[in-house]
Amino acid sequence: MEILRGGGVVGLPTETVYGLAGDAFNPLAVARIFEAKGRPLSDPLIVHLPEAGWLDRVALISSKEQRQLVDNLAAAFWPGPLTLLLPKHPELPDLVTAGSDRVAVRVTAHPLFQEVLRRLGSPLAAPSANRFGRISPTSAKDVHIELGKEIPLILDGGNCEHGVESTLVSLEGSAEQPTFSILRPGPITMDQLLQFGHVVIAERIVNSPGSLPGHYAPKKRLHIMDSDINLIPEGARVGLLAFTTSFQEKHQEYTAVEVLSPSIDLKEAAANFYGALRRLDQCNVDLIVAQPVPEEGLGVAIMDRLRRASYGSLHGTGHQSSEKATQ
Ligand code: TXA
Ligand code: MG
Repeated sequence: MEILRGGGVVGLPTETVYGLAGDAFNPLAVARIFEAKGRPLSDPLIVHLPEAGWLDRVALISSKEQRQLVDNLAAAFWPGPLTLLLPKHPELPDLVTAGSDRVAVRVTAHPLFQEVLRRLGSPLAAPSANRFGRISPTSAKDVHIELGKEIPLILDGGNCEHGVESTLVSLEGSAEQPTFSILRPGPITMDQLLQFGHVVIAERIVNSPGSLPGHYAPKKRLHIMDSDINLIPEGARVGLLAFTTSFQEKHQEYTAVEVLSPSIDLKEAAANFYGALRRLDQCNVDLIVAQPVPEEGLGVAIMDRLRRASYGSLHGTGHQSSEKATQ
């Protein structure tokens, strides 16, 4: 707590991925987050709350109708992996939102994160606790690998339940006929949002590098497997990121294999996804080949991350490309 009160930053578990947290109302702490991650100041941060009751400290909800809509969403999905883009409260430092007049807010379900928020008494800004453009951490050990040298403390809350980042949604249209624009697919699926209004998938948004291709990338080249696997150079040592085991049995020539879900369950696959990608990245392989997962429910979020992770490889810029592609 002393670290956070003094404007320091701490690695904390959430139900999605680990976050790098600092007091959202302390511009120095927020600046430290950007510095530790090597993240450009133009990429805004998500603000975390322990309960929806804190919302008015960071967001300005002007109309009764919008309040009703947010209350309905909060009742259905919070605490949990849904992040809402709302009008920003003027007192929240501009650094948090990179100058934008909208703030991304979520109520995390992780008991440890909630306890820290309540004890500190202030909302925490927290991006995923990885170096900018790299694989998000889903365990305290991963945070240590990514940012151990940069940060004084990491709280260990075990492995993250969901394993992919929260669904990021902006509210559009009128409050009576709301439209949700999904800026980043995640554990709260399109079907779950449909009961509250119209849903569209945003192609790409300004001010959100997490929505750019080339994010969430391993250091090794990564290809998504399709019918044309001729891209693999002869003699290359290949790591396989398989959705399920049946694939592994047919292809014995891989140097390393990670299976996301032996029981063919997308939730299990998501929870294992970043850890498996990270292990393959650390193995003695030249490139990683990923088997696509069914693009339904949580599979939408997994395929979104896989496509972004493979972007640099596809565009011939090679494995160091991820940094370049996202700066
Ligand atoms: O599950 C999660 O959301 C995790 C955990 C730690 O809460 N956090 C996370 O944060 O994934 P980060 O910073 O790695 O990704 C947040 C994404 C980025 O793509 C960022 O550009 C976008 O949300 N974002 C944040 N604030 C925004 C804003 N005001 N306007 C537009 N995009 C925003
Ligand atoms: Mg991130």
